[in-house]
Amino acid sequence: MKIQKHVYDVVIVGAGGAGLNAAQVASQHVKTAVISKVYPSRSHTISAQGGVSASLGNEEPDNWHWHMFDTVKGGDYLGDQDAAEYLTRNAPEMIRQLEHIGMPFNRTPEGKIAQRPFGGHTANYGEKPVRRACYVADRTGHAMLQTLFEKSVSQGIQFYNEFYALEIINTNGTVNGVVAFDMKDGSIHIFHAKAVILATGGSGRVFRTNANAHTNTGNGIAMALRAGFTWSDPEFFQFHPTGIYGHGNLITEAVRGEGGYLLNGEGERFMERYAPTIKDLAPRDIVSRCMQKEILEGRGAGPKKDHIKLRIDHIGAQAIMDKLPGIHELAMVFAGVDCTKEPIPVVPTAHYQNGGIAIDYRGHVITGSNGNYDNVVPGFYAAGECADTVHGANRLGTNSLLDLVIYGRTTGDLAAKYAKEHQLVDLPADAGKQGLALLERFTKANGKYTFRDIYEKMINTMQDNVGVFRTGENIKKAVKDLADCKEMLKDYKVVDQSTVYNLDLIEALELNDMVLVASIMAHCALLREESRGSHYRDDFTERDDVNGQKHTQAFLEADGSIRVDHRPVRTKPLTVDTFPPKPRVY
Ligand code: FUM
Repeated sequence: MKIQKHVYDVVIVGAGGAGLNAAQVASQHVKTAVISKVYPSRSHTISAQGGVSASLGNEEPDNWHWHMFDTVKGGDYLGDQDAAEYLTRNAPEMIRQLEHIGMPFNRTPEGKIAQRPFGGHTANYGEKPVRRACYVADRTGHAMLQTLFEKSVSQGIQFYNEFYALEIINTNGTVNGVVAFDMKDGSIHIFHAKAVILATGGSGRVFRTNANAHTNTGNGIAMALRAGFTWSDPEFFQFHPTGIYGHGNLITEAVRGEGGYLLNGEGERFMERYAPTIKDLAPRDIVSRCMQKEILEGRGAGPKKDHIKLRIDHIGAQAIMDKLPGIHELAMVFAGVDCTKEPIPVVPTAHYQNGGIAIDYRGHVITGSNGNYDNVVPGFYAAGECADTVHGANRLGTNSLLDLVIYGRTTGDLAAKYAKEHQLVDLPADAGKQGLALLERFTKANGKYTFRDIYEKMINTMQDNVGVFRTGENIKKAVKDLADCKEMLKDYKVVDQSTVYNLDLIEALELNDMVLVASIMAHCALLREESRGSHYRDDFTERDDVNGQKHTQAFLEADGSIRVDHRPVRTKPLTVDTFPPKPRVY
C-alpha cells in the first residue's frame, strides 16, 4: 500500500479546545498541522455548557490561592499541586486572552465578564460558594471552540479532518510522528514531525449512560499505551450528577449555580442533609453519590423511583431563557419537560476521564517506573482530557475548559520552541507497522461477532460494576466480562470492505480501543482499595492517605497484559506553601 508522507514541525492530534489552542499558538512560530477524526467544530468541547473557571473576582472577592485550594481539595488530594498552581494562577490572564481573540462572554451590568457559582468552587478555603465560572449562557464550550477554530483558520494551519490516527511513532524514546488514515478515501499517511501534541479527549463512551460525544472512545490513550507510554489514574472516571434520565445528555451544573436544586421522590431537598455548607454545589462526585444513595434507598422519583428531580422554574422563565437556553431546549427535546414550569428528571451520567497520559505541570509527557518517574519524553506533549496531572481523583466543574486552554497554549508554545531548537529525528524503518497491522486485522476480520454484541456487553458491565459505587466483587465481574470482550474481538466481523467512509471499520477500531481502556479502568479500580474522589468502594469506604495518595501508572505490555506501578503525587506547589490535607467535608 502506498503511504503518503508529510513533514511538519508540530503535529497535533485532536481538534477540540486543547488541540486548537495548541495549534493557534504553535502555528505563530512553526509549520503546524492538526489531525482530527471529526471536523473541528464537531469536537466534544462544543458540548461543554456551564463555564470556564478563573478567579477574576468580577462579582465578589476571589483569588487564585482559593481556586488552587479548591482544585486540590476537590481532587481529593491526588492532583499534582505544582499543576494546580500553574492552572489556577494563569487562569485570569488566559480568560482575558480568550476575550481578546473574540470569545463572547456574558457581561455584568458594568460590562465586566460575568461569573456564576459552580460545584466545589469556594471563597476563603471552603467557607462559602464563590462566583468563579465565566460563561457564555450555557454554551460556553461552543463559543470557545468556534472562537479558537476561527483563530486557527485565520492563521493558515493545515487541517487533516476526518483522518483517523492509528499510531504514535516512538523512535528510541523520542516521539517524531503519527500514522493516520484518511476516512474519506482509505489512504494511509505518515506525519513526520519534530514534536507531537496529543489532544484526543476522553473515553466516556465505555459507559452505558454518558454525556460524551460518540467520538470519545479513548483512541489517544490507547495509541499512547501501544507506543509504550503511561496511563495515569485510569480508575478515576467522573460521573456528572445531572444527565437527562434515560438518555444521559448533560444538564449543566450551572442550573444549580443559578439557583436550581435537587429533589428526591419525597420532595425533599436532600443535599442539605449531606453537605450543609454548600448543598447542591458540592463537588460532583459527592452529589452523584448522594443522588445514587437516595435512589438505592428507595427515595427516587417517578413510578420506578429511579431518578432525581432538578428544579429551576422558580428563578423565572426570563432568567432561564437568558442564561440557560440550551438546557431548556435539551430538557424539552429529550425529557419532554418545559423546565420553566416543571423539574427535569436526572441521573448521574459518565462525564469525564479524570486520569490520562502522565504529564508534568506544563504538559510534557513523562514516563518511567521503579522510583524513576519524571522522565520527559522528547518531542511529546499531551493536553486536555487525555492528559493527567491536575484534577486528581475528581475534577471540579469548569476546570476542564480551563485545563484545555491553559495546557493547549502551554504545549503549543513548548512544542514550537522544541521544534525550533531540534532537528527532525529520522523515522525508524518499521514506522507505521503497528498501525497498519491494526488496520489490516480489522479490514480482514471475518468472524462472528458484531459491534453491538461486544459494545453492549462492555457498556453494561462498566455501568453496572465500575460506576458510582463499586465493590471488589462487582469489579471482578467487569474484569471477567471485559476479558470475554477481548476474546470476542478476536472473532469479529467487518462486513463493509469499501475504502470510502467505512464506518464499519472505524467502529471496529474504536471498539478495540474502548475494550482496552475499559479493561484497564476496571483492572486499576480493583487494585485501589480505598475510596477517593470519583472512585468509591463500598468495601473500602475510607480515604487511605498512607497507602493511597499515589498515582496509579498503567502500562500495556507487548503480550497485551496490563502492568501497574505507582508514582508519588507532587505535593509541592511551585511557589506557595503546601496546603495541609484537610478532611473532605463540605
Ligand atoms: O455542568 C457543566 O456545565 C459541566 C462543566 C464541566 O464539566 O466543566
